[in-house]
Amino acid sequence: MADATGLLDMGERLGARELRALQRERLRASLTHAYTNVPFYREAFDKAGLRPEDCRELADLARFPFTTKADLRANYPYGMFAVERERIRRIHASSGTTGQPTVVGYTENDLSMWSDMVARSIRAAGGRPGDTIHVAYGYGLFTGGLGAHYGAERLGCTVVPASGGMTARQVRLIQDLRPRIIMVTPSYMLTLLDEFERQGVDPRGTSLRVGIFGAEPWTEGMRREIEERCGIDAVDIYGLSEVVGPGVAQECVETKDGLHIWEDHFFPEVVDPVTGEVLPDGERGELVFTSLTKEAMPVIRYRTRDLTRLLPGTARTFRRMEKVTGRSDDMVILRGVNLFPTQIEEIVLRTPGVAPHFQLRLTREGRLDALTVRAEARPGATPEVRDAAARAIVAAVKDGIGVSVAVEIVEPESLERSVGKIKRIVDLRSR
Ligand code: DLL
Repeated sequence: MADATGLLDMGERLGARELRALQRERLRASLTHAYTNVPFYREAFDKAGLRPEDCRELADLARFPFTTKADLRANYPYGMFAVERERIRRIHASSGTTGQPTVVGYTENDLSMWSDMVARSIRAAGGRPGDTIHVAYGYGLFTGGLGAHYGAERLGCTVVPASGGMTARQVRLIQDLRPRIIMVTPSYMLTLLDEFERQGVDPRGTSLRVGIFGAEPWTEGMRREIEERCGIDAVDIYGLSEVVGPGVAQECVETKDGLHIWEDHFFPEVVDPVTGEVLPDGERGELVFTSLTKEAMPVIRYRTRDLTRLLPGTARTFRRMEKVTGRSDDMVILRGVNLFPTQIEEIVLRTPGVAPHFQLRLTREGRLDALTVRAEARPGATPEVRDAAARAIVAAVKDGIGVSVAVEIVEPESLERSVGKIKRIVDLRSR
């Protein structure tokens, strides 16, 4: 294994039994903190007839009520905070595209813990003190930019705070400043790679060796595409603002086998999305997090709506989560068949003649929903190649997912490019 144990921090060195003991102790403290300082949690626990002391074993957490996005909205802006306002050092907001926004807050200790977790993530990705890191996650209310930034500084790296956008300039900065690592959404990485090629620069010739990609679902097919085009190791970083931001879980570069959850700070459960029942490790369901050390905004059993499963640790003792296949919100139900954009991504990426750019358009035909996959032709793809690609995608969706879709192969560079989180689904049904 590439990682010398000497590089691991204290939390990463815990054995399984020590970890469980630490989690038990922290869990009880976190439940007590939430119950004592947040009226929402006090009411919810009281209603369930539970007190923080009732959580003796980790499994007892299953008896406590869930927290949802709707609860955060209902308590906007500061209702979920557990400390006096003067102790809040920073606010971020979640990227929710619909409805009321939700904000999250951090104390000084929270910011420090977060930086530690991002530093740990970058190290697991192969980053080392002294590395230069190009951060192209957006800076601002989104947690990506500032989260990556402070974690990189905490590890002892040089940060280039590029943020998202001004793509031509990003390419220039990467050539001039020679970063070893890039942190960016996978979809914006594709935009950057196209820009390299447009400028006649071979991305394989740059100083980049590692890409730390997250904030949206991406597939093994996308990993291969990016690794091959750029000559880097591409690893996955996961997080959400309600829990902290990026750095909740990270894939280790030496194994690339799913993301180790930093469970000494964020306790995971996977539940049946419909019944809420806790599922055993290995079974797929909705990921739920309880913060173990957060001060400003503890979250108890927060439902992420992200679908995955828990797996045993490999490169670290911590359990892993499988790459997120999608959010329950992004699931399309087409004539009774469930479909996720990542399934289409896998298919598009293995189809010759099409670029890794696609969009899903949902329309209504009579009383039935219809889905059109719009995928971009590779430059130079002949009409025959395009027709064959369209037929191949239709057949692969039919065989693999079990539903009929229409496919349109559109001109190169005609689909809108991502500068951050990409929106795959265009829903035209309400028109
Ligand atoms: O996206 C935090 C983040 C920033 C993570 C940079 C990684 C890198 P939110 O804007 O609150 O926070 O969105 C969180 O994004 O619930 C997932 O649905 C999705 N998501 C985040 N990382 C991944 C990932 C940030 N690696 C929501 N794979 C989450 C799949 C991801 N989905």
